Amino acid sequence: MDLASKVRVIKDFPKPGINFRDITTLLQDAEAFKKTVDALVELCKDMQVDVVACPEARGFVLGAPLAYALGKGVVLLRKPGKLPGRTVCYNYELEYGSDALEVHEGAIQAGQKVLLVDDVLATGGTVAAAVELVKKSGGEVAGIAFLIELLGLGAREKLGDYPVVTLLQLE
Ligand code: PRP
Repeated sequence: MDLASKVRVIKDFPKPGINFRDITTLLQDAEAFKKTVDALVELCKDMQVDVVACPEARGFVLGAPLAYALGKGVVLLRKPGKLPGRTVCYNYELEYGSDALEVHEGAIQAGQKVLLVDDVLATGGTVAAAVELVKKSGGEVAGIAFLIELLGLGAREKLGDYPVVTLLQLE
C-alpha cells in the first residue's frame, strides 16, 4: 500500500497559501494506520530510549501506539493551559502562526533518553520546542520520528545531529 496516497491535501487551510497535509484519511483506514505504526516501530525499535514524548494533538495519535509497542511510557507535550500540574513552557513559531508547548514538571526525569514523535515536520518549530522542553526537563533527545517530512522548508537543519527518522518525504 502507498501510504502517501492516504494523506489528503487540503489547499489554503488554515489560511491561503498553505497546503494542509490531512492525515485523518490515513488514520481512519485500518490497514494504513497499522502499517504506519508498524513501520514507525521498525524504524525506532533499536533506539535506546526510556520514554516517548509527543506534541498535541496529532502527535498523540502516533506517539501513544508507538510507545505501547516499544514498551515505554508516553509523555504528553500539550498546548498552554491544558496540563493541571506545574509545567515547563516553551514558545515557538508555526508554519501558520505561533504557539507554545508545555510539559509537566517531573514528567521527564533528569538523564532520561527521550524519543520525540510527531505526525508532520514542516518548519520544525514544534519539534524545536519539544527538544527545548526535553532539555529544560533535564532529559536527552535520543531520537525523533515523523510520519511526514515536508521537504524544502529547511526544518532538518534546525534538528542538528539528532537521529531523525521519517516514513514519508513529501514536496
Ligand atoms: C502540526 C503538526 C506538527 C506541526 C508541524 O500541529 O501536527 O505538530 O504542526 O509544523 P512545524 O514543523 O511547522 O512546527 P498543529 O500545531 O497544527 O497542532 P494539531 O496537531 O493540534 O493540529
